[in-house]
Amino acid sequence: MFNNKNIIITGGTGSFGKEFVIYLLKNYKPKKIVIFSRDELKQFEFSNYLKNKAFNLKKVRFFIGDVRDRSRLSLAFQSMDYVVHAAALKQIVAAEYNPQEVVKTNIEGAQNIIFSALDQNVDKVIALSTDKAVNPVNLYGATKLVSDKLFINANNLAGKKRTRFSVVRYGNVINSRGSVIPFFKKTVIQKKLFPITHKKMTRFFIKVDDGVKFVIKSFSRMLGGEIFIPKVDSIKIIDIAKAISSNTKIKIVGIRPGEKMHEVLCPQDEAHLTLEFKDHYVIKPSIGLEIKNNYQINAIREKGKKVSESFEYSSNLNKFLSIKDIKKIIN
Ligand SMILES: NC(=O)c1ccc[n+]([C@@H]2O[C@H](COP(=O)([O-])OP(=O)(O)OC[C@H]3O[C@@H](n4cnc5c(N)ncnc54)[C@H](OP(=O)(O)O)[C@@H]3O)[C@@H](O)[C@H]2O)c1
Repeated sequence: MFNNKNIIITGGTGSFGKEFVIYLLKNYKPKKIVIFSRDELKQFEFSNYLKNKAFNLKKVRFFIGDVRDRSRLSLAFQSMDYVVHAAALKQIVAAEYNPQEVVKTNIEGAQNIIFSALDQNVDKVIALSTDKAVNPVNLYGATKLVSDKLFINANNLAGKKRTRFSVVRYGNVINSRGSVIPFFKKTVIQKKLFPITHKKMTRFFIKVDDGVKFVIKSFSRMLGGEIFIPKVDSIKIIDIAKAISSNTKIKIVGIRPGEKMHEVLCPQDEAHLTLEFKDHYVIKPSIGLEIKNNYQINAIREKGKKVSESFEYSSNLNKFLSIKDIKKIIN
């Protein structure tokens, strides 16, 4: 799929981006991989990391740019075959306090990606989304929902061009920057109480390498216009604290602004659009697209079936990881 192809990843120095680049370098022979992000230091550090691990950097380009800057993106997208759009502002509380900034990056940035991909005749674009985009209660989720809608609709802007756009949506990434596990580990070192929002709170969890493999698979599965959702396990937040340290005491701090008790990846309101495949779900576009796809059979001929009208894929109605499983993953 990626052999002899030019691939660009926006947010290529983030938790997902770095793992994606490493996976491509280990498993494919791409022509070129472009890492697009703003901060030169993160790029420098990642470049050093790759050098120290003896990766061949001849194929890797570090491109400083901001997804808010369409002309820069257009330049970066020249001769690209595939785009993975992972750049985002994603801290829930920061988003509440800086709404204009999150709109600029997550929504205007999404539009810039779409128009640059169309300008440069890119083949396929996958944008990363989150469970927080489903029935959003915070601005981060709301901007990602708008972004999802823009990417699905972008298939109608393509006209006769070959560019196809799809979305991959999943839940919390274990150990990603700013996530609960590194935070809890710090709490143990600082000998503080574990601040638990609610004893019953649950989340979907995915390992970053599983997220990367799922995105890669989605490139081969996509027809354009779908939202791909992997089947993953759930975790009770309190079990993460127990897995990190059985001695540390817990303090209940209450649900924070913009947080939900449970997350949803496929909402019941879209059950009529949802298809179940062996290891994932697909939500079909809610609008008619000019490209006529039979989403029940994907591009690699896997077959999906309709789910029941009452179906909802929610983190509290799912298979849970045991404390033992969580310990294994964390370590
Ligand atoms: N982590 C999770 O738990 C999770 C779960 C579900 C979905 N997702 C989605 O997955 C994607 C990647 O998440 P992640 O965890 O890898 O995030 P991350 O670690 O915070 O990385 C974000 C990346 O985006 C870049 N970036 C931010 N603003 C930018 C801008 N305006 N222009 C260009 N680059 C910019 C950052 O680099 P610079 O700061 O140097 O620009 C960094 O490389 C996001 O779309 C997120 O919504 C994440």
